[in-house]
Amino acid sequence: MGRNQKAPKIESKFMKFFADTAEIDEIAALAETGMVDGVTTNPSLILKSGRDILEVTREICALVDGPVSAEVVSLVADDMIAEGRKLAKIAENIAIKVPLTWDGLKACKVLTGEGNMVNVTLCFSANQALLAAKAGATFISPFVGRLDDINLDGIDLIADIRTIYDNYDFETQILAASARTVNHISDCALVGADIVTAPPAVLRKLAAHPLTDKGLATFMEDWKKTGQKIL
Ligand code: G3P
Repeated sequence: MGRNQKAPKIESKFMKFFADTAEIDEIAALAETGMVDGVTTNPSLILKSGRDILEVTREICALVDGPVSAEVVSLVADDMIAEGRKLAKIAENIAIKVPLTWDGLKACKVLTGEGNMVNVTLCFSANQALLAAKAGATFISPFVGRLDDINLDGIDLIADIRTIYDNYDFETQILAASARTVNHISDCALVGADIVTAPPAVLRKLAAHPLTDKGLATFMEDWKKTGQKIL
């Protein structure tokens, strides 16, 4: 299905926005807008924050009500499960993030079976997304921007996963990741992603339009000329 075709109806009434960052100040500022439904982190974002993973994740979980993804770093299922269990103890809104490997899928099945939210990450194909859904993933994270980086179409992948999940009524939510532009976000919405995660700088740009700024400047000038006050 192309991005210009009508997306099938999805269960949630609106698309959710997650902030893709481990920067506490940025998350706090965005949370105040009421527009942030969750947070995603990964080892690179933890490195960038310069913070301890357990501490910073705890602080993030206290700032937002929605799911906060924290990623395991082991490559073997049993170790992923142990790390996931430890991360899950941080707060009730933790989503354990595991990579899309056979070990990650095994860990996903066990961890979701124990009642945890699991986000299967580093998804680059429809078949990988199909496996994640079969493993009971709460979220699948296809990386839109990194596919675009190698001249493939990340949005087409989101559309394909939407179709496959709807064909079989999979409940796994499509969490479009590696969104780098505001167009990525609207394109993800057009093809029916459940959630998009993007850096705060990209999320902030969503409200910006030069005609909004221009129109507002005109309204302010004209209002001044009326000599009136509302308050
Ligand atoms: O959530 C995954 C996302 O952070 C990857 O984004 O821009 O590093 O491809 P990027």
